[in-house]
Amino acid sequence: MSSRLDAAPIRIAALPADFSHLWLDPAVHTYITAMHYPRGSENHRVPLWRDHIARPGWSAYGAFATLSRLEALRPTYSRLRVRPPLAHSDTEALVGVAYGYRGAPDQWWHRQLYSGLLRAGRRPDEAREFLRDYFELTELHVHPAGQGRGVGEQLLSALLADRTEAKVLLSTPEVPAEDNRAWGLYRRLGFEDVLRQFNFVGDARPFAFLGRPLPLDTTTAQH
Ligand SMILES: CC(C)(COP(=O)(O)OP(=O)(O)OC[C@H]1O[C@@H](n2cnc3c(N)ncnc32)[C@H](O)[C@@H]1OP(=O)(O)O)[C@@H](O)C(=O)NCCC(=O)NCCS
Repeated sequence: MSSRLDAAPIRIAALPADFSHLWLDPAVHTYITAMHYPRGSENHRVPLWRDHIARPGWSAYGAFATLSRLEALRPTYSRLRVRPPLAHSDTEALVGVAYGYRGAPDQWWHRQLYSGLLRAGRRPDEAREFLRDYFELTELHVHPAGQGRGVGEQLLSALLADRTEAKVLLSTPEVPAEDNRAWGLYRRLGFEDVLRQFNFVGDARPFAFLGRPLPLDTTTAQH
């Protein structure tokens, strides 16, 4: 399966809000598959992502792969299919997605991070200043069949290229020895610890918050 994608050219392009009816379902399918979440998780993710699209400063990029004989492939590929005019051909599939928006105090994720910073010993004025001007990298996912060829880095570079915020912040699950592609990518691009071993309300898994100043200069990334 992956050999097909290895050979497929990848195109990185903006995912416009007014075309979300074309890209949202394939993007959420990519996300569910990349995170190994159970089928059916789409049902509550799609409305949440729609809500995010409406937030100030939202933007998104997708990775499109041209797959030959798409219909003959596994059923999963048909769920990644994007229709023209967003797709450039009838055999383009969405194999990666990245999006985010400007952070703001009325957002749940912002409030979680703020309270975590206080618990870690920051003064309220320090925590507010730290969170004054940032872009939240909300989601970054590449379908497993497209991972390991630099697509995640291309998506992140495109997403961050024109941001005006002072920094980018994200949260990612803790993994032993930081040993997965997400951690490898973030460290390579200079993301540093903001908070570690954090538990979001309602989620038993520990997460890390990472961040780095903007702009992002990928020419200095360590490959
Ligand atoms: C995290 C994730 C988005 C990274 O995307 P990716 O495309 O797999 O990874 P990168 O862009 O960092 O690519 C790096 C890999 O591509 C290889 N590569 C090939 N050509 C490359 C190029 N031109 N530039 C950079 N890397 C290249 C690197 O050698 C590296 O391979 P390795 O990991 O086997 O050493 C993706 O792995 C993913 O969706 N994971 C599951 C979901 C997840 O964890 N999301 C993040 C939650 S916060």
